[in-house]
Amino acid sequence: MTHTPTLSLADAADLSRPPVDVTVVLDHLVREADAAAATSVGFPGAVDLDQSEVMARLGNRLWNNIGDPGDEGGLAHTRVLERAVVAWVADILAMPADDRWGYVTTGGTEGNLSALHAAHRRHPAARIYYSAAAHYSIPKTVEILGARSVVVDARPDGEMDYAHLAAQVRKRRRWPAIVVATAGTTLTEAVDDSTRIRAVLDEHGVAGHLHVDAALSGIPLALDGQLRLDDAGGIGSIAVSGHKFLGVPTPCGVVLIRDRARTSGNHVAYTDTLDTTITGSRCGLAAALLWHAIATHGREGHRWRASEARTLAAYAVYQLTAAGWPAWRHPHAFTVVLPTPPEPVRKKWLLATDGDTSHIICMPGITRGQIDAFVADLVTAAVPPELIPRPRLSPESDASTAGH
Ligand SMILES: Cc1ncc(COP(=O)(O)O)c(C=O)c1O
Repeated sequence: MTHTPTLSLADAADLSRPPVDVTVVLDHLVREADAAAATSVGFPGAVDLDQSEVMARLGNRLWNNIGDPGDEGGLAHTRVLERAVVAWVADILAMPADDRWGYVTTGGTEGNLSALHAAHRRHPAARIYYSAAAHYSIPKTVEILGARSVVVDARPDGEMDYAHLAAQVRKRRRWPAIVVATAGTTLTEAVDDSTRIRAVLDEHGVAGHLHVDAALSGIPLALDGQLRLDDAGGIGSIAVSGHKFLGVPTPCGVVLIRDRARTSGNHVAYTDTLDTTITGSRCGLAAALLWHAIATHGREGHRWRASEARTLAAYAVYQLTAAGWPAWRHPHAFTVVLPTPPEPVRKKWLLATDGDTSHIICMPGITRGQIDAFVADLVTAAVPPELIPRPRLSPESDASTAGH
C-alpha cells in the first residue's frame, strides 16, 4: 500500500520515507506550478519557449562539463554546445574574437562571482563600487572575496547616481576601482550607463575594471546593439542569466570576461581539466538547453520576442494608468513599476514588492489576457481614488504611458 501525501511542509520528512507514491507527489508539484502560472507576473522568467525535446533526449543522463569549456574528453559532456552558447552571446555583445572567454554558470550570482574574482585577482587593492540598487549577490561576492567596497547612491528610478560615484572615487583615487554596473535592476529594470562610469574613472585617473551585472537585460539590450563589450565601451566582464529572457527551465547563466582581464587556472591532474570556473562539476544539461533556445530562434527570433514583450509592457502601463493606477517603465524595459496594490491582489499575482513600490514583468509568454485580468482585479479591489498611492519612483527617462 502506498500513501498519498498532502505535501504540506510539515510532511517533508514523510516524503522520503517509503512507501511513497512518487506519481502523486510529482502530479501535485506540477498541478501547483500550473495553477500558479496564470497569475505569475512578478518574476522575470520567459515562459514562451518549448524545451521538451532537450529534456526528453538528454534529461536522463549526467552531462558534466567539468573544467574549462575548452577542455575535451572526460565524462559525457556538452562542452561543444557550451562553446557555441558562449560564442553566440559574445558575438551579440560585439566582443573581439581574440579577446573573450566565458562559460555557462549556475546563474547570475556565479557569473558575478567569477567575473569579480578575476578582477579582484588582477587588482587586489581595488575598492569595489556598486549602487544601492545592485543585486544582493554583489555585497555577498564582496564579502566572499574579502574586498573593500563602496555603496553608491541610486536615483529614485533605480539608476546609479554618477555624481555620487564621482565623489566616492575622488576620495579613493589612490586605489584601483572595480565598478559594478547593473543592466536591469531587480525592482525597476534600470540600466547603469557604462560610458558615464568609465568617464568618471578616466576623469580621476583611476585604473580598474568595469563589470556589468546584466542578469535580466543583457541579452535583449545586446540584441539591440545597446550593450557592447567591444574596445570602445571599456567593459571588462558581464554576467547574464539563462532562465530569465532565454527562459531555460533550470537556473543557469553565462559569464563573459575580456580574456586579457582573466587570470588562467591550474591544470587538475586527476580530471585532466583546467580549473578556470567557480564550481568543479558543471551542468551540461543547462548548456544544452541554452544552446537549444538560441539555435531554434536565432538573433532575429529573440529580437522579435524582446520587442513583443516591450509592446506588452507598454500596453500594461497604458491599461494601469487608464484604470487610475499610476504605472511607468523605462523605455527598454519589460518591467512595469506601480504603487503596491492591496494585499490580496499582490499575493494572487505574486508581485515583487519593496514597500510602497511593486512591479510586474511582461516577459515573453505573458499575455494581454493576463494583464487585463490583473488590471481588472486591481479595479475590483475597489480602492477609493484618494487612497491610491502616488508612485514613489519617478523616472527621468520615460514619464510617458506608452513607451515603445
Ligand atoms: C540584477 C541581477 N543580478 C543577479 C541576479 C542573480 O541571479 P541568480 O538568481 O541566477 O543567481 C539576479 C536575479 O534575479 C538579478 O536580477
